[in-house]
Amino acid sequence: MTEPSTGAARGRTGSGRKRTEGKKRADKPQDATPQEDAGDGSEEAAIALLTEGTLDVEGRLVVASNATLYCKISTDGAEANCVYKPVAGERPLWDFPNGTLAGREVAAYAVSRAAGWNVVPPTVFRDGPFGPGMCQLWIDCDPDVDTIALSRRADHARLRDMAVFDAVVNNADRKIGHLLPDCDGHLYGCDHGVCFAEEYKLRTVLWQWRGRRLPARAIETLHKLETALDSDPLAAELAGCLTPDEVTATKLRVDLLLKHRVHPYPPEGWPAVPWPPY
Ligand SMILES: Nc1ncnc2c1ncn2[C@@H]1O[C@H](COP(=O)(O)OP(=O)(O)O)[C@@H](O)[C@H]1O
Ligand SMILES: [Mg+2]
Repeated sequence: MTEPSTGAARGRTGSGRKRTEGKKRADKPQDATPQEDAGDGSEEAAIALLTEGTLDVEGRLVVASNATLYCKISTDGAEANCVYKPVAGERPLWDFPNGTLAGREVAAYAVSRAAGWNVVPPTVFRDGPFGPGMCQLWIDCDPDVDTIALSRRADHARLRDMAVFDAVVNNADRKIGHLLPDCDGHLYGCDHGVCFAEEYKLRTVLWQWRGRRLPARAIETLHKLETALDSDPLAAELAGCLTPDEVTATKLRVDLLLKHRVHPYPPEGWPAVPWPPY
């Protein structure tokens, strides 16, 4: 069996690179330098596998608050691991409409990809053994990265990208355990089900840049995203997952970030850090 050549798909369980022994690192040194997308079609290959592959449930993630299933996904020519979250397994929340979390995860992927951040692993909405839900490529995390130390870094460009991405999607649940540093030095994030609320409710462990000027790289990306939000495919993708008001609120957040050019401050009257933070 072969698998897509995406860095993400390379990270499938069991295929991780040789680990270094000893003390856990906050991160690999090269992570301070952003990596660009491979641009080799591997993202498309991963999306094709997630969309068309046969889904075999192998287990349930017990740390998860929703029905989050660890699966194998395979076609004749490719195989990887993925997370499958059926809509039917979503825990009802007071502040998000029932049955919408899987769609929000797909919308988060669409925004991350269109902007070029690539902080969300390939994610699709599809049918599965427990009904429709989201399916996301599994990232084999580097066990030598100390994610608590990583979450506190202020000199990590991709982590900072993630903070800007979170501000755009209005992420209400950026926990340390939602940081996924892979074995190739790429940083992903997961669990974007509680994003895209209209009301400002950013809740994150990544406040180290609050009030600081956005880097030029972020401004460039936000301009790119501003354009992308007004045209297909992103406009059509978001229209399929979010309400028109939620899409409008997303555009407004991008406009606000471009107007003020600073990382946002914590919201008032809303817990600013997820609990537990891990
Ligand atoms: N795509 C992924 N790749 C690797 N690990 C993942 C992925 N998605 C989730 N996980 C792991 O599973 C845990 C639970 O998943 P999460 O998406 O947070 O579920 P829940 O919505 O129930 O909180 C995460 O904290 C993370 O450690
Ligand atoms: Mg979670």
